[in-house]
Amino acid sequence: MPGLFIGLMSGTSMDGIDAVLLDVNNAPRVLGHAHQPFSPQLRQSLLALNSSGSDELHRAAQAGNALALGYAAVVRTLLELARHNTTDISAIGCHGQTVRHQPQAGYTIQLVNAALLAELAGIRVVCDFRSRDIAAGGEGAPLVPAFHQAVFASPKESRAVINIGGIANISCLPRTGTVSGFDCGPGNALMDGWIAEHRSAAYDRGGAWAASGRVLPELADRLLAHEFFGRLPPKSTGRETFNLQWLRNALSGNEKPADVQATLCEVTAAGIARAANDHCAEASTLYLCGGGARNDWLRSRLAALLPGRRIDVTDSLGIAAETVEAAAFAWLAQCALENRPGNLPAVTGARGPRVLGAIYPA
Ligand SMILES: Nc1ncnc2c1ncn2[C@@H]1O[C@H](COP(=O)(O)OP(=O)(O)O)[C@@H](O)[C@H]1O
Ligand SMILES: [Mg+2]
Repeated sequence: MPGLFIGLMSGTSMDGIDAVLLDVNNAPRVLGHAHQPFSPQLRQSLLALNSSGSDELHRAAQAGNALALGYAAVVRTLLELARHNTTDISAIGCHGQTVRHQPQAGYTIQLVNAALLAELAGIRVVCDFRSRDIAAGGEGAPLVPAFHQAVFASPKESRAVINIGGIANISCLPRTGTVSGFDCGPGNALMDGWIAEHRSAAYDRGGAWAASGRVLPELADRLLAHEFFGRLPPKSTGRETFNLQWLRNALSGNEKPADVQATLCEVTAAGIARAANDHCAEASTLYLCGGGARNDWLRSRLAALLPGRRIDVTDSLGIAAETVEAAAFAWLAQCALENRPGNLPAVTGARGPRVLGAIYPA
């Protein structure tokens, strides 16, 4: 059946793999979703690969193989759930796992052994979406705004779509005119890291722990003084910039852990609110997606910091928050096969539109 694509996303939260089955025959429609958390061992080795260490080429290759195995398993689960065969699928769009993002140094690394994934899944794989944009002088990120435009833009209402993964990014979709977008700063990564260290939880469900603490204004100010928040787009960021070490450098050591979590949630909300105010002032409704859209306390802090705007979740536009980014990479795989550009130069800063991705036949 032509027009069915699978998108595979595992983002900077490093929570696991989202797989989405997307029907692109008409307006893109999500037909199924499967999620598989990373094993603690794989998560640990991926986290370790975010900074340099001994024998990292070997470790990266091994992680690429482990990811291919994990991706192939989720594809099998998704196909069973959605009652489809491999032969029904035109291609898999596989983002891979970012372990370095250094556009200013001319590269970004999304790990996956795509040859192994094609071999195991028996489906054509499109991967390495970001490199071509960087080769053309762009940030290589964010790449989701083109998809957000395709599925969420409206002639009746100026909208913004805010994807809260490990890092947060915003797409501004004016009623008319040019779409813009950029990374706004931390998403869940800092809150996830802090609660893992202090409460051995993978994430702060509903933001309940953050809500129990008190925001520390001086700490918040110190963190929000990072130059990234005020930098003009195009811009993108990653764990290289926003990580627990950066947080520790700003701590006195006497803070209560719950107050730090409250402050991290506030800083995350403030980074997003600043992006929306500075560059998306005309958007009347802000639609949240990514796992952070399920953080009730973060949502309520956003509403408090953005009076006069409606805060909603992309579910109300027909695509559930946790499926949006994987759906975007399914859609980008279709763009690649049809030789259509997937980047928006106004977003990434690339010299022009480029067809993104490397294709591994089935
Ligand atoms: N119910 C929830 N409450 C608070 N945070 C949540 C909830 N569900 C998911 N999250 C957050 O979303 C993250 C996963 O988001 P995701 O969109 O997959 O990010 P990424 O693209 O970086 O992998 C989790 O690590 C967690 O921080
Ligand atoms: Mg994820």
